[in-house]
Amino acid sequence: MMELKRPAKNRGFYLRMKLLNNKHGRPVQQDKSNICFRYYKWVLWLSLTLYFFSSFFITHKPIPLSKTIFSKSNDVVSRALFESTNSTFLQQPWTKQDSLKDLKIYVYDLPSKYNTNWLANERCSTHLFASEVAIHRALSNSDGVRTFDPYEADFFFVPVYVSCNFSTVNGFPAIGHARSLLSSAVHLISSTYPFWNRSQGCDHVFVASHDYGACFHAMEERAVEDGIPDFLKNSIILQTFGVKHHHPCQDVENVVIPPYVPPESVRKTLQKAPLIGHRDIFVFFRGKMEVHPKNISGRFYSKKVRTVIWKKFNGDRRFYLQRHRFGGYQSEIVRSVFCLCPLGWAPWSPRLVESVALGCVPVIIADDIRLPFPTAIPWPEISLTVAEKDVQKLGMILENVASTNLSTIQRKLWDPDVRRALLFQDQIQEGDAMWQVLYALAQRLDRSRRTVRVLSHS
Ligand SMILES: *[C@@H]1O[C@H](CO)[C@@H](O)[C@H](O)[C@H]1NC(C)=O
Ligand SMILES: *[C@@H]1O[C@H](CO)[C@@H](O)[C@H](O)[C@H]1NC(C)=O
Ligand SMILES: *[C@@H]1O[C@H](CO)[C@@H](O)[C@H](O)[C@H]1NC(C)=O
Ligand SMILES: *[C@@H]1O[C@H](CO)[C@@H](O)[C@H](O)[C@H]1NC(C)=O
Ligand SMILES: *[C@@H]1O[C@H](CO)[C@@H](O)[C@H](O)[C@H]1NC(C)=O
Repeated sequence: MMELKRPAKNRGFYLRMKLLNNKHGRPVQQDKSNICFRYYKWVLWLSLTLYFFSSFFITHKPIPLSKTIFSKSNDVVSRALFESTNSTFLQQPWTKQDSLKDLKIYVYDLPSKYNTNWLANERCSTHLFASEVAIHRALSNSDGVRTFDPYEADFFFVPVYVSCNFSTVNGFPAIGHARSLLSSAVHLISSTYPFWNRSQGCDHVFVASHDYGACFHAMEERAVEDGIPDFLKNSIILQTFGVKHHHPCQDVENVVIPPYVPPESVRKTLQKAPLIGHRDIFVFFRGKMEVHPKNISGRFYSKKVRTVIWKKFNGDRRFYLQRHRFGGYQSEIVRSVFCLCPLGWAPWSPRLVESVALGCVPVIIADDIRLPFPTAIPWPEISLTVAEKDVQKLGMILENVASTNLSTIQRKLWDPDVRRALLFQDQIQEGDAMWQVLYALAQRLDRSRRTVRVLSHS
């Protein structure tokens, strides 16, 4: 399974790689911490050079660049050169497809104990942390982006499911084993394949869909104390956790992804109640709201925001607040105008995805939260943000919006492109959550080997 066959057609590239190594007088893998950055500087330099070079031709003579300047390079290289420049410089009308820059991802074929064995429990692929499964599945199903030739890959995906060891006591995922499972996977790939050592993991991609991302602990204090394991520090982490301020658990190259909501559940809900149907609930929230939250090492659940919501608005006829679990809660969201998305322990919650997918205006109450895919989703136009300290004023704030700009917000929220962007489909669809992840990775090509393909011809 882990055996590596290297196709003959790549020999040319391999030689170029070796040449590059010799030019620097040492193998690439000896540069430790600064390796990603070092490549980046080269690309910057190259991009600038190319910019002046190409803008000269653009302004002076409108000739097809690829054929003239780079006529001696092979296709891969000239394409890479183009893509390493800022596309607006070349004034190309890029389509959505082009913006993935022909990204290639190699998916490691790990023994099933790292991933698919966990699927024996059905919840593993459907619960809110299941983006680790969904991303693996979508990549595996995609012929366009997945490559079986690691030598042409821009990035390497390491599929390890860490959130499916459900506690027999409370049903929550126990993630105590996450570090050792990941560390063992990294050990396996780094001793079997050359790619990890080659970049020290810079072009390797992991999912950390649990609270506090790559710190792998559900309690913030412990998560911060444990920190991000050393072996992940150079890699790219796809994580649900994101805050705008500095936080030790996001001190790594990362992409904020949405929590997982099964697209079928959304489809089924919308079959029964259309998106633009009547919404008879003004404000909706269902979830844990403790009247007397415990002081757990100096922290209170939801920073007491949910307690305030319950105490202040329970009994207010505009608010439909429920404290108990109910499987059919999506049918309540689709009936609601505003859906509250207050922080829990961590700032993010699956309610955000469900509200958007079901057309209920999300009211985000989680100071400093960093939201997924800000280039695709115009968050300020489709949601409301209420500061944690202002939660008492919720009634007034929402009344005000309802009487002024609610229909503008709803019109933008109900745009299919917006709703599509937060859901992971089984097969990658243009504009869906997996596509957005690929788009984000395409913006990070400076961390990948393709940079070296460019360099070796400069
Ligand atoms: C490309 O350049 C334009 C103009 O200089 C800039 O506004 C834009 O943000 C750049 N895009 C990227 C992806 O760097
Ligand atoms: C699952 O979690 C339990 C409790 O934390 C732990 O004892 C057990 O070793 C874990 N299982 C695996 C296979 O890692
Ligand atoms: C990668 O480096 C580690 C530690 O230096 C070493 O044990 C391992 O054999 C190397 N892997 C390969 C494929 O050479
Ligand atoms: C919460 O508990 C911590 C000790 O764990 C204590 O220092 C702090 O004062 C308590 N806070 C409140 C508001 O009771
Ligand atoms: C709608 O109105 C509210 C309250 O005046 C304001 O905070 C918000 O930015 C507005 N949203 C949009 C999309 O115009």
